[in-house]
Amino acid sequence: MSWSQLVRTDQNVSTAHSVAIAPSVLAADFAKLAEEIRAVENAGAEFLHLDVMDGHFVPNLTFGPMLVKAIRSVSTVVLDTHLMIENPDKYIPNFLDAGADVLVIHAEASTDVPRDLRAIRDRGRKNGLAINPDNPLENVEVYLDQIDLLLVMSVFPGFGGQSFMESVLPKVERAVKIREERGLEFAVEIDGGIGPGNAHMARDAGADILVAGTAVYRTPDYKASIDSIRGVTP
Ligand code: DX5
Ligand code: ZN
Repeated sequence: MSWSQLVRTDQNVSTAHSVAIAPSVLAADFAKLAEEIRAVENAGAEFLHLDVMDGHFVPNLTFGPMLVKAIRSVSTVVLDTHLMIENPDKYIPNFLDAGADVLVIHAEASTDVPRDLRAIRDRGRKNGLAINPDNPLENVEVYLDQIDLLLVMSVFPGFGGQSFMESVLPKVERAVKIREERGLEFAVEIDGGIGPGNAHMARDAGADILVAGTAVYRTPDYKASIDSIRGVTP
């Protein structure tokens, strides 16, 4: 799976840079999850973003591999699984067995980042490394040649529905620049508080994948919201 195949190149995208959209199911109605997943797939989402929280690394609890497996059974898009858990190494195999296509660990939560990144790639899946808003890019620059995806958090992880932190945009720009300079290929994803009102900033900074929970699932028209975040003019 190459990233370029996943990113749409619709004619009517208003920016030169095409992006993929990853709705976060955290904001979906869990009582009708299969329907909620189908709805964003039909609305053109390339990814589904699955927020796994352990109540330790972040102060909130969500779901584990069992639900990822259930979601896998009803979805056709790329499962982008964001582990907000301490010691991710303990659970990486379980999430891969459950069917995660992309498995993102937090740099702050891992005791051995290269080991954990390798454990994901060794199983033929894509790995990702997430950094919190207060974690400078310099802290993870050394790993950029070992990753498939860099997840720049634009809120402090733990909850959906928080306000977008513009202050992380220079990190996105810098990561894109380093990728070019070093001839690397990792995708840059941005997560937290993204919606139609600010997505252009993330796109202009060079993000390839935009996560959006509230802005997609808490609106009546998922397609309109996804198109707008993507920068598609109606
Ligand atoms: C935050 C999560 C995000 C969040 C996005 O801890 O990692 O993925 O669900 O939700 P919104 O788009 O509502 O900020
Ligand atoms: Zn997330």
